[in-house]
Amino acid sequence: MKAIVTGATKGIGKAITMALAEEGYDLGLGARNLSELDYLSKEIKALHPDLEVITKSADFSQKHETRNFADTFIHYWGDIDVLVNNVGKYEEDSLDNFSESNLKSLFNINFYSALRLTQPFLPEFKRRKSGHIINICSVLSKESRNHAVSYSFSKQALYTYTKMLREELRTYNVKVTAILPGSTNTASWDGLEAPVHEFVQPIDVANGVIMALNSNGMVEELEIKPVNPEH
Ligand SMILES: NC(=O)c1ccc[n+]([C@@H]2O[C@H](COP(=O)([O-])OP(=O)(O)OC[C@H]3O[C@@H](n4cnc5c(N)ncnc54)[C@H](OP(=O)(O)O)[C@@H]3O)[C@@H](O)[C@H]2O)c1
Repeated sequence: MKAIVTGATKGIGKAITMALAEEGYDLGLGARNLSELDYLSKEIKALHPDLEVITKSADFSQKHETRNFADTFIHYWGDIDVLVNNVGKYEEDSLDNFSESNLKSLFNINFYSALRLTQPFLPEFKRRKSGHIINICSVLSKESRNHAVSYSFSKQALYTYTKMLREELRTYNVKVTAILPGSTNTASWDGLEAPVHEFVQPIDVANGVIMALNSNGMVEELEIKPVNPEH
């Protein structure tokens, strides 16, 4: 079984990557920083020497780099079993200081990255009539936060895309799951005043992904929130 994870070197992406390795998946991993990808690859190989781990540096906010990343794995593997569109960025803005350039930048990384990476894999998922696409959305895919306007818009677009994809692919026996984490203890919160110890932990999100993958049914969406959410 082969899985691709974007934004694999830190936070939620890394926890999902390590959980997929535990499950025996060969891994195709993307992020921008090549040395962190190399380090992660070594970490996985030390624990799971039999797994194939392929890393490729890509900036998923860029259309051509995203397409190139997809093409690399399509040429090398031909097909994959699992695609985890995890990469994303949190940034705060409000209706007062909101700018179109910020909106575009967050749409590129939080929405277009998933759209552009998924598209090239669809023909093979449909032909094989199997596979699973997991999109890491957010609780803000369904709620609005007035100090994270562009982020909320971009994650709501990703969530709508996920629902459309699910309806399109279910007739081909391909599963599509939206994971909607609340505040999760990752580097995304560095520099912001936040009680990270009260947050959801990356491993909680990874456990949700594995549960969805191993379910006989279609886990359509999974919300994981802090018990007492302040952020
Ligand atoms: N943390 C939360 O509270 C929370 C809550 C709900 C949803 N989420 C969602 O969960 C996902 C992961 O968040 P996280 O908090 O785990 O993030 P994180 O800790 O900041 O890690 C981000 C990962 O993505 C990579 N990355 C960032 N920008 C990239 C780009 N332009 N191109 C390629 N790779 C890039 C980073 O590596 P490089 O820097 O080397 O590229 C890193 O591996 C995101 O979609 C986020 O919106 C997070």
